[in-house]
Amino acid sequence: MPRRGGPIQKRPIPYVKKVLAVASGKGGVGKSTVAVNLAFSLAMQKTSSLGRRLRVGILDLDIFGPSVPTLMGLQHTDEPSLTSSGALLPIINHGMPTMSMGYLLPKSTESASREDAAVVWRGLMVQKAVQQLLFDVDWRDGENGPRLDVLVIDMPPGTGDVPLTLGQLVVVDGAIIVSTPQDVALADVRRGISMFRKISVPITGTILNQAYFVCPSCTSPHQLFGSPDNFHSVASKLSVPILGELPLVKGVSVGGDSGIPYALTASSALSEADGAGGAVWRNVMEDAGKRVCESLALGKE
Ligand SMILES: Nc1ncnc2c1ncn2[C@@H]1O[C@H](COP(=O)(O)OP(=O)(O)OP(=O)(O)O)[C@@H](O)[C@H]1O
Ligand SMILES: [Mg+2]
Repeated sequence: MPRRGGPIQKRPIPYVKKVLAVASGKGGVGKSTVAVNLAFSLAMQKTSSLGRRLRVGILDLDIFGPSVPTLMGLQHTDEPSLTSSGALLPIINHGMPTMSMGYLLPKSTESASREDAAVVWRGLMVQKAVQQLLFDVDWRDGENGPRLDVLVIDMPPGTGDVPLTLGQLVVVDGAIIVSTPQDVALADVRRGISMFRKISVPITGTILNQAYFVCPSCTSPHQLFGSPDNFHSVASKLSVPILGELPLVKGVSVGGDSGIPYALTASSALSEADGAGGAVWRNVMEDAGKRVCESLALGKE
């Protein structure tokens, strides 16, 4: 929280080595889907310097519309437990520790889930919630266990209070900006990039999501939302690397709704039904994970 009169002191997130934010200027472009799947892609990276896989966690900072619980199949989970010192313990599924405002909201009595619980907070309460999610989670693998190599943060849409609060309170090692090919999304990409630059967060790169569709019965890509040329020229003008161009794949959406991230469904019947597009999506996501790993020097120290 900014203190009156003095400079704002950035603090590290406890038990976390590196922080990567996944953001966009616009809603609904696939940030949460990319954040969750990229986290798994990173968790599958084996770094030669460590001789083990990276330890990764996911923090959902979308206070008003948390989607990590659903994407991770955790929307019916009980509230997080607390450590003896009062820190929140992450909730784990598919071997991935996660924390979300969604776990802290009261469950609706009818559906026994929190999906329809609304947060009607503003200003200071939002900042308080962001602070708690940033600083009061014990990400260690057990008591006295090792820290996370990287925490992937799923950001809310837009350039509002939450990214500003994040940038002011903690050192963020990189940000990925997700976009779709539409011009309106691209204008928001520019805004998102300039906001992160203003708060001194380095841009790791951009990901073009829903770049094209490969129908399961043919091999040629259909650019449903237009050509990627504008996206390429915006990225080049702003000197931002393109980490990947993900196709639109039915299984990605189905996997998200059913709480099984697509990056985990490599050989399942579900992903086979997606044909060439599914395989391309997985390769692009794997490659993006490798590039993020190199760019942030994950596991190097
Ligand atoms: N490459 C893709 N192929 C198919 N469906 C996708 C793809 N990317 C995202 N989706 C679907 O698009 C919808 C929106 O995605 P998601 O919730 O990840 O976006 P978001 O940017 O996080 O949205 P918000 O701004 O509301 O947080 C979801 O239903 C998701 O499953
Ligand atoms: Mg989202």
